[in-house]
Amino acid sequence: MNKADPAPLILAMTGASGSAYGVRLLECLLEQGKTVYLVVSDAAHLVLAMETDWCLPKRAGEATRLLNERYADFPGQVQVFAPQQWMAPIASGSGRWQAMIVCPCTTGTLAAIASGHSDHLIDRAADVSLKEKRLLILVVRETPFSLIHIENMRTLTLAGAVVMPANPGFYHQPQSVSELVDFMVARILDQLHIDHHLLARWGEPGRPPS
Ligand SMILES: Cc1cc2nc3c(=O)[nH]c(=O)nc-3n(C[C@H](O)[C@H](O)[C@H](O)COP(=O)(O)O)c2cc1C
Repeated sequence: MNKADPAPLILAMTGASGSAYGVRLLECLLEQGKTVYLVVSDAAHLVLAMETDWCLPKRAGEATRLLNERYADFPGQVQVFAPQQWMAPIASGSGRWQAMIVCPCTTGTLAAIASGHSDHLIDRAADVSLKEKRLLILVVRETPFSLIHIENMRTLTLAGAVVMPANPGFYHQPQSVSELVDFMVARILDQLHIDHHLLARWGEPGRPPS
């Protein structure tokens, strides 16, 4: 990914547990001056409402307005698209974006992307990302994984996606859930080559002795 490229990033949130990862990632991207195209699956609306203080309208325009109010320090940086909004720029390879992150990613969306089954905008944008050789990051959350999940992750890794299960480390001695969330978000930002100070790097001050 080209760091200087002003093209937006796509963040898709699907209905896996761990919606805090997606929310925190969105905030970090906005803080770094990125424009974010956000797509939230129907199931993700439910999980977000259960796990966070988000109550996002289903209508894309209303959701965009609400998020731009919520993140008023970053005016106009979030644009929400509905899962069936086929006229969105992310439905086509002629649209411009730097990278796409599905965070969190369900095993259902994983399967849909692995099989090229572009039934809604998230699957379609991921399919386009793969065919256009743009960075696609899948933050999968499930446990345990079945062979089907593992085969789908293998297929997508071979197709060029980065599969990074929501699987935070503990060697930074986290004292809170938000520090665990930040661990994952830091690893995602590293994949995107986006600067952050969410946690010290291995071997740098602030890290517990190895
Ligand atoms: C509270 C809640 C938590 C869920 N957690 C997961 C999960 O961690 N991983 C997963 O693959 N599916 C999970 N699901 C199931 C998915 O939401 C469901 O399979 C849905 O159809 C996925 O659709 P989507 O991929 O379009 O979001 C969860 C559902 C609910 C209601």
